[in-house]
Amino acid sequence: MPRLTFIDEATSADFSAGKTVLQCAIEMKIALSHVCGGDGACGTCRIEIVEGWDQLSPPTPDETYKELEAPYRLSCQAKLLGDLVAKVAKIE
Ligand code: FES
Repeated sequence: MPRLTFIDEATSADFSAGKTVLQCAIEMKIALSHVCGGDGACGTCRIEIVEGWDQLSPPTPDETYKELEAPYRLSCQAKLLGDLVAKVAKIE
């Protein structure tokens, strides 16, 4: 079962593979903005990947259109496949 760690919040939890990181973060009560409700439109749910880039589903068209590059992903689009360490990304 994949383990998700938000290193900046000093918290971890285990989740079934295939859940989006946003769904997991909401269950973990992480303050992660998600203005569009997870539709991949707003870009506010951005996370920074610290470890485990290859433990996520591939970037979706919503992410590539926004020209998001490593180490950033949209948490509503990225599905957890294995252990991941992430941070809530600062939005400028
Ligand atoms: S919640 Fe809007 S892009 Fe992810």
